[in-house]
Amino acid sequence: MLLVYMSITGNVRDFVERVDMKSYEIIPTNPFHEVFEDYIVVVPSYENMITEDVSDFIDYKGNIAYLQGFASSGNLNFDDLYCVNAKELSIKYNKPLIFTFEYAGTDKDIEYFKKEVNSIAVSTITV
Ligand SMILES: Cc1cc2nc3c(=O)[nH]c(=O)nc-3n(C[C@H](O)[C@H](O)[C@H](O)COP(=O)(O)O)c2cc1C
Repeated sequence: MLLVYMSITGNVRDFVERVDMKSYEIIPTNPFHEVFEDYIVVVPSYENMITEDVSDFIDYKGNIAYLQGFASSGNLNFDDLYCVNAKELSIKYNKPLIFTFEYAGTDKDIEYFKKEVNSIAVSTITV
């Protein structure tokens, strides 16, 4: 499973590096990159701009076919807007919001997320 992510101030990048799986960082100035394997998108939360850049990536060529779901970093002080972009993307693309965490996530968050990703990877293997 590939982790496709965006990070503005580094928290999501830090999380993804600690998860230690194959990853690709979406570059906001050029989100048009083609992938050929299943992926989960990990995003920070900043309202509009994240949703647009991530949508550009997902809608590029055949990328949508490999999308498995979303995870998100946010800050619970934002209340109803907690992880707002990932919630919007999950609805827009009808794929699950697998996990949310604050800032760069705790070690427990990393452990839990890895388990979730592995169970998705197993369930999507076709025989
Ligand atoms: C200007 C600004 C707006 C933010 N808006 C939200 C928000 O709407 N919802 C939320 O859950 N977190 C919000 N956050 C918190 C960030 O999403 C959070 O710190 C995240 O870990 C940043 O990830 P990054 O360092 O990878 O960019 C905001 C932070 C900043 C600085």
